[in-house]
Amino acid sequence: MTPYESLRPIARDLDESDIVAVVNRARNKPGLVPLWVGEGDLPTPQFIIDAASASLANGETFYTWQRGIPELRQALADYHERVHGIANNPERFYVTGSGMQAIQLALQATSGAGDEVVMITPCWPNIHAATQVSGAVPVHVELDFSENGWSLDVQKLFDAVTNKTRVLFINTPANPSGWTATHENLRDILAFARQHNIWIVADEVYTRFIFDADCAPSFYDVIEEDDRVIFVNTFSKNWAMTGWRSGWISAPPAIGQVLENLIQYSTSGVASFTQRAAVAALQQGEPFLAMQKQRARTNRDVMCDALRSTGKIKFARPQGALYLFFAVDGFSNSKELAIQITDEANVGLAPGTGFYTGGNEFLRLCYLRDPKQIELAAERLVGWVNQL
Ligand SMILES: Cc1ncc(COP(=O)(O)O)c(C=O)c1O
Repeated sequence: MTPYESLRPIARDLDESDIVAVVNRARNKPGLVPLWVGEGDLPTPQFIIDAASASLANGETFYTWQRGIPELRQALADYHERVHGIANNPERFYVTGSGMQAIQLALQATSGAGDEVVMITPCWPNIHAATQVSGAVPVHVELDFSENGWSLDVQKLFDAVTNKTRVLFINTPANPSGWTATHENLRDILAFARQHNIWIVADEVYTRFIFDADCAPSFYDVIEEDDRVIFVNTFSKNWAMTGWRSGWISAPPAIGQVLENLIQYSTSGVASFTQRAAVAALQQGEPFLAMQKQRARTNRDVMCDALRSTGKIKFARPQGALYLFFAVDGFSNSKELAIQITDEANVGLAPGTGFYTGGNEFLRLCYLRDPKQIELAAERLVGWVNQL
């Protein structure tokens, strides 16, 4: 048996991300407009960096609280009271080393070998893969597409539940489709989960990137404090902090010791200087977030109008998140199409094949970029499609 063959089968058999495969092929292509990854192009604002630098200069270089420094847990409680109108309770909050780690911990706390996690597709591939790594089985429920918008038939979600289901994983607004749950969806899902004693993992990392409100419909609007809902979130998107790897969990205080233990036995906590930066983001970051949101909205409209003008591209104008998810008439394999577009139009896009069922013919484009890059990408894509 080779070293590779003797690895844990679940780890060995994880899929290579189709997104990474396309990116790796053309990462350094001259002049390419890269819209394939889910991040903006602005660096972290200076006031956040200053808070981190001050922390290091003050000697905060030691192990720290597993659940997060008290100042950050309080800042999270204040932020949620302000944005979601919930009771101010720092005991709900746990600091994690990224939204991704928040997802891992939420899954580790709720599911494992022999269990099923039901998720809505097309979905961010890491949700599917993190479920596999935890030992549980991902079960997919497809959204329905129409040019009026992506929608969820909640009955399909409920029909996917078996006696092995431990978690409904709900990402809203969704990566990559932009689908955004309505309050009615959230109420129905919560009622079902309560009735069947199932956990909800609510991935609301894009909740502030909604274009007709301050915040998207959220499970916070419908839950009681002790409902079985674990929220996963991140500093990455709102405050241009993707490289900091910092996020948070919000969960019923009753499971606090379990989450503290899971943090202790994984990273043992998040660096203090990162946490000081996060406090600054929460307390002073609203103007930056508002500016990013405005930029995203304008870019979304520029790109949608340009692609619509070809008459050969189908999509639903996204209500939320950072992505336009579109298909080009006559192309069904988006991995091949993404490669062709990088080669011939010099625009980097993520193939829908990377997001599991329901989006194979689609391409994902991140529009949180410099408006000039978006205009250039729109011009190139339109030119390319029109010459087909
Ligand atoms: C739906 C969703 N959840 C969670 C994350 C996690 O973000 P991060 O690990 O950068 O904190 C992402 C990042 O793209 C995402 O798209």
